[in-house]
Amino acid sequence: MRRISPVLQQDGVEPDLIALLKTILAACREIAFRVSQGELAGVLGSTLGENIQGETQKKLDVIANELLKEVILETGVVKAISSEEEDTIVAGNPKGKYLVTFDPLDGSSNTDINSLIGTIFSILPADPAKEADDASLFLQPGTAQVAAGYVLYGPSTMLALTTGHGTRLYTLDNTYGGFLLTEDQAAIPKYTTEFAINMSNQRFWQEPMQHYIADLLLGKTGTRGKNFNMRWIAAMVGDVHRVLCRGGIFAYPTDTKDPQKPDKLRLMYEANPMSFLVEQAGGVSSTGYQRIMEIIPIDIHQRVAVILGSKHEVETCIGYHKA
Ligand code: F6P
Repeated sequence: MRRISPVLQQDGVEPDLIALLKTILAACREIAFRVSQGELAGVLGSTLGENIQGETQKKLDVIANELLKEVILETGVVKAISSEEEDTIVAGNPKGKYLVTFDPLDGSSNTDINSLIGTIFSILPADPAKEADDASLFLQPGTAQVAAGYVLYGPSTMLALTTGHGTRLYTLDNTYGGFLLTEDQAAIPKYTTEFAINMSNQRFWQEPMQHYIADLLLGKTGTRGKNFNMRWIAAMVGDVHRVLCRGGIFAYPTDTKDPQKPDKLRLMYEANPMSFLVEQAGGVSSTGYQRIMEIIPIDIHQRVAVILGSKHEVETCIGYHKA
């Protein structure tokens, strides 16, 4: 089985980018270890309390954020980072040629129930003409990404990675201490009978999504003429991983549940990197009205509707938005 560096070298990826990716993955290996320790590490729960020795306990997502931030900025090739856990961007080396965005621990409410969680990251080129503390550095569409990936902390720790040469899957080999290539080219099947959506929001969705899901639920007796199955992991990394492995459609549509927050998922930390991975595996990713990777961001923390996965199914769903 092949290690990451030779695979990236073969794809013609720049040495600095390879080094940056390896640094991010080293941090993820450390996060994987802490996740595997669970309650033993004293980092679960939602409060910043004290452990039995009187030491301050930090939540796992705070630890993951600090670890990633520190190691990424130390590489010297990164001009600035933007994290889902930080209010503002953090400046790095003014001469750095890359920007990194990340969600240190996606699906973090799953930590307390020992269920799937992961780290999502995206790498963009940095404009040399801008200052390192200028947030507008990050306002680039997803099509500008030079790499994107996630590390899924599951029964095995897995990495999905793209640098624009397809999406590859790697598995962490703890005996060797690194990720080994286990799927050279993820290929999302064009057709599917599986959907993932938080059905409890149904009454808050807009009409196109109401109609689309209603037709899926009618199964064989409805216009779709086949039965659909539903899955919901409540961590985007877990749901997208399933889609990469066996196809499906994943959606977090706009809703009116909280008028202040019509969309839930973040463009830069979740939607763009996942869209890059999905498209590179032959899938489609859209808001229902627009290709996600073509959105020009106006804010680093902006949220967006997401519909992604098997080509035919996502295109069918987009069709309901045109009607
Ligand atoms: O980032 C937010 C997130 O945890 C995603 O990973 C996941 O898809 C979604 O929220 C789950 O949302 P809900 O709480 O509605 O199930």
